[in-house]
Order: sequence, then C-alpha cells, then structure tokens
Amino acid sequence: MTAGRLSGRKILLGVSGGIAAYKAAELTRLLRGEGAEVRVVMTAAAREFVSPLTFQALSGNPVRSELFDPAHEAAMGHIELARWADLVLIAPASANVVARLAHGLADDLLTTLCLAAACPLAVAPAMNQGMWRHAATQENVARLAGRGTLVWGPAEGAQACGDTGPGRLLEPADLLERIAGALCRGPLAGVRVLVTAGPTREPIDPVRYVGNRSSGKMGYALAQALRALGADVVLVSGPTALPTPAGVARVDVETALEMQGAVASRVADCDLFVGCAAVADYRPAAPAPGKIKKTAERLALELVRNPDIVASVAARAAPPFTVGFAAETERLVEQADAKRRAKGLHLVAANLVGAADTGFEHDDNALTVLWDGGSAVLERAPKPVLARRLAAVIAERFHARTAAQDPR
Ligand code: CTP
Repeated sequence: MTAGRLSGRKILLGVSGGIAAYKAAELTRLLRGEGAEVRVVMTAAAREFVSPLTFQALSGNPVRSELFDPAHEAAMGHIELARWADLVLIAPASANVVARLAHGLADDLLTTLCLAAACPLAVAPAMNQGMWRHAATQENVARLAGRGTLVWGPAEGAQACGDTGPGRLLEPADLLERIAGALCRGPLAGVRVLVTAGPTREPIDPVRYVGNRSSGKMGYALAQALRALGADVVLVSGPTALPTPAGVARVDVETALEMQGAVASRVADCDLFVGCAAVADYRPAAPAPGKIKKTAERLALELVRNPDIVASVAARAAPPFTVGFAAETERLVEQADAKRRAKGLHLVAANLVGAADTGFEHDDNALTVLWDGGSAVLERAPKPVLARRLAAVIAERFHARTAAQDPR
C-alpha cells in the first residue's frame, strides 16, 4: 500500500445532528484511506442519525460524546484530545453548533474541544436552506470566519426536507481535498493553475455543430493530479460527460471563442497554464440564425480560423508557465518540438495519434514531454496514472524555471 497524503495526520472529526451525518461516515473511510488517524466526537443529536458503532468501526477508535465520561477521560482527557488533533473538522455542522461555536459556548464535549484546540478548526455547515440564509446563522458564520475558522460549503441543491438551495454538506471527496489542502503543502501548494479540457463545439445553426471526439479525460485527470500536488486549479471545460474533480473549480464553455474569453479573463491571475483542450481550429464563418432546412442538393460550409488559445497565453508580456499538448501522427519529437517553439511553450506533452488504442477517447495514453534542453518519456499507462506522472514533471519544470528567473 502506498503512504497516503495524510499519513500520520490526526483529524478530530466532530459530527453534529443532521441527515448529512451519514456522509461523515464515508469521510472517515476516505481519511483512513489516505493514512490519517481519525477520532470521532458526536453530539447527542448526531447519535440519533448514525450509530456511534459505525464511526467506531470506520475510525478504529472509540467514539466520544460525553464531556465527563470517566472511562474515556482516563484514557485520554478532553484537553489532551484537543491537543492531539492537527485539525478539527465539524461535518456536518448544524445551525445550532455553528451558533454555539460563534458564541464560544462549551456546553458539551464537541464545543469544549473546539475552545481547547490550538490547531485549525474547520466547519462544514449542513442545514435547511432557510436556516442557512437566516441572518442569525449568517452573522454566526461571519463571526467564525472572522476568527480564522475555515468554513467549507455548504453546497447548493436538493435538500432532504424537499427544499432546494444552499445548505447541503459538501461531498466527502470534496471535504477530503479541503483537508489535504489545509494540512499538506504539496510541491504546487499556493500555485494558481488554469487548465483547459475537452472539445469545443462550433455552431453551424442552433441545433448542429462542428466538434471533435475529445472526451476530456486527460485534462480532467491532469486537473485532479495538479490539485493533488496542492495547486489551486480552475478547469475551463468544453462539453464533457465527466464529473468535476474534487477540489477543482470548473467553468463550462462551448465554443473556442467562449473558451478563449474564459481563459483571457483569468490568465493574469494564474502562475501555470495547461492547454489540454482539443480546441476546434476552425469555426463556421456565419452560423445560421435558424435551423438549416434540407432544401439544397449541396451545402458548402465556410470555416474561419479560431484563435490559438495556448499560443496567445504564451505570447503575453509576462506569461504563466505555459504547457501545451501536441498530437502527431508521425515524427513525434521533431514535430512536437517545432510546435513548442512556434507557440512559445515552456513545455509540450506529445502523443502519437492514429495508433489503435491510445489517444482520443481511449483510457490509456503515452506521452513524450519536451522542454528547452530536456525531455522525458512517460510510458503507456491509464490516463489518471499518466496524469500524475505528467503533473510531477510539470511541477519540477515549473520550479526549475522559477528558480532560474529568481536565483536566490
Ligand atoms: N490549442 C489551443 N487553441 C487552438 C488550438 C489548439 O489552445 N485553437 C492548443 C491545445 O489545447 C493543445 C495544443 O494547442 O495544447 C494542440 O495543438 P495541436 O492541435 O496538436 O496542433 P495545432 O496547433 O492545432 O496544429 P496542427 O493541427 O496543425 O497540428
């Protein structure tokens, strides 16, 4: 088994009452999977929703609820427990717990621990949307955030009570990423990354488009891999069927021009740009405003060039570290390196297309990575594995360039 990202880190997971308490069980499992030690403290209300036995089995530690429980206090006193933690996370945090924390109450074990803990405190609120929007809750949350408490979520969507709106607990995978982000300083911690992924669709008329067969898998896997190295990642995505990687912010676009606009408005705030999208090189010159009827025997479609997004990023006065892809059918290194120089890229990841089982729409790929004065061959592997290897090379080259620019 490989050591997880949270190997040896100590998480005190507070669970308060709410239907979302079951998601804390999954979070416990994920945390353990990343190597974290987890101790769970439940409020009395939480025990109405999930049995302490569930958390005991998943965390491998006894679950505590009572402030004055002689058996547990003898093993590890509550102050000791508060000091033990590297991070306290309350998920779900009910409106009641948020209010009690905001006012510094210590009327049960969980709130007492929060006052006694010196480590970072995070809350992941979950409640009815009306309760979340209430001025009292908003004031309490603002008060907590003002004190440095990390407030993660809530997400918007359908609620157990039938309402729709803000108040859903963030998904366990998302919470895991937040915890990793708060506790781990990966090689790209604090680095702002913009990634493009997926195909673009260029309208012919309101119902038809010129597109391509990119699935977006490589770009999404790379966004996730860069995130796992600690980067703050924004993913500008053409239409795909893929879920947003946990911890990644996603901006949806359809056309190349929309993608260019989404990139242009964010690129000044990024340190690293990765152009992974299969941007359509051409778009219909004049999309028809209404559906084209099949009256004519022949139909000619005039296409005009789209802007090259990655090249325009690399051509900026102070460009971010710019990574592009190159898909070639022959003379891979020669053509990809020519593309790197022509577009002014810091690094190009090249793959051979036309082979039967790699590249577009396939789950496996192989890459040759080229930069000024060096190269690396990443052997054929499933895209998520390859993405992690590529992310590591990108991180290394990113730092090599930063060090060369600023040799302190
Ligand atoms: N790219 C882009 N904007 C475009 C076209 C491509 O940002 N309008 C980026 C892709 O995201 C990728 C690289 O350029 O990083 C891909 O280039 P590729 O499609 O291999 O080559 P082209 O530049 O399109 O040139 P050609 O098709 O002639 O090989």
